[in-house]
Amino acid sequence: MRPVEIKEGVHWIGVVDWNCRNFHGYARSANGTTYNAFYIEDEKKVLVDTVSKGSESQFICSLSHLTKPEEIDYIVVNHLEPDHAGCLEKMVELCKPEKIFVSVMGGKNIATFFDSKDWPVHVVKPGEEVSIGKRTLRFYETRMLHWPDNMFTFCPEDKLLFTSDAFGQNIAASERWVDEMSKEMVADHMQQYYANIITPYSSKVIKTLETFAGLNLDVDMICPDHGLMFRGEDCAFALEKYMEFAKQEPKNKATLFYDTMWSSTESMINAVASGLVSEGISVKVMSVKANHHSDIMSEVFDSAAIVIGSPTHNNGILPGMADALTYVKGLRPQNKIGAAVGSFGWSGECVKILNEWLEKMSCDIIEPQIKAKNRPDHDTLKECFQLGVSIAAAIKEKTGK
Ligand code: FEO
Repeated sequence: MRPVEIKEGVHWIGVVDWNCRNFHGYARSANGTTYNAFYIEDEKKVLVDTVSKGSESQFICSLSHLTKPEEIDYIVVNHLEPDHAGCLEKMVELCKPEKIFVSVMGGKNIATFFDSKDWPVHVVKPGEEVSIGKRTLRFYETRMLHWPDNMFTFCPEDKLLFTSDAFGQNIAASERWVDEMSKEMVADHMQQYYANIITPYSSKVIKTLETFAGLNLDVDMICPDHGLMFRGEDCAFALEKYMEFAKQEPKNKATLFYDTMWSSTESMINAVASGLVSEGISVKVMSVKANHHSDIMSEVFDSAAIVIGSPTHNNGILPGMADALTYVKGLRPQNKIGAAVGSFGWSGECVKILNEWLEKMSCDIIEPQIKAKNRPDHDTLKECFQLGVSIAAAIKEKTGK
């Protein structure tokens, strides 16, 4: 893509990765992604972030429409993860920058990614400013949003905030701005991104948003490193959405995810779903065979309840279910109601194991755990339906709706 001037003298020089479907090796990105990077033309010529390894040629080509790499003076590294610093080594070699700005944790970690001992790394203190001519760049540490090294860079003269992964979305598009696309679609992608990348750090998000609110920065453009950028009133939209996500307030919704061998567990899950729906709860029923674990997490994220199911297999649960549970638990979703069902042939450990997963996720567990030998009979399915009704009552009590 050609550069896009986002403010006078400030250019988007990112790369659109149309075909990225596996984001960071663990999350599905059904609509691709972008690696946003920026070039600021002032008395000092500055790169803000770079792009993913493998996208160097597109990045350098885009930059070359504006300047020669060897004319770059400063490189700001808001984040060391390879989707943004993947071609840093190449850019340092081409640009020979006077300074490379990183956060305190970036300074501690940069040599573990690169042979950077001879690089002109400048570790910035939180709030430190550097003049680049008519403009100032001010750096804010945003540790654990979502890595230890993350920081935001603010340009007060342009009211421009570069936020690294925060506010990002996995959207590959020719459009660059949120206001060029459906707000609902963007919000949905922001939530998917948040659910799969940021959820464990929600308390940090709240703290960061409160700190920034206290700083009263005059911001009229927010530029994340993935997806579309926010301008004007959309900046408030981005901040509101992140506060909403970080609070993890559940909806009247349940996500039921399960694996099944001969459809017994699936029948039980469907009966629980019917009970929930009969009480007006919205449900998502997701087989782990048909759904990627990151899509399951996206639905779990705003659900008040999760219902998990697996048959017993080799004295455990099916491996697809173990995968989904490992992933979901790792993202530490908060404030969930949980229930478990499963079928078995002889030893029957499944629901005990599923229940242990619910406990590890600090779910409020709704009894009974229901297990069926070989095939759920009519009474067992009625019991599953009734479990759905009980979960619905607990959801309504939790959400107050
Ligand atoms: Fe987009 Fe944490 O990398």
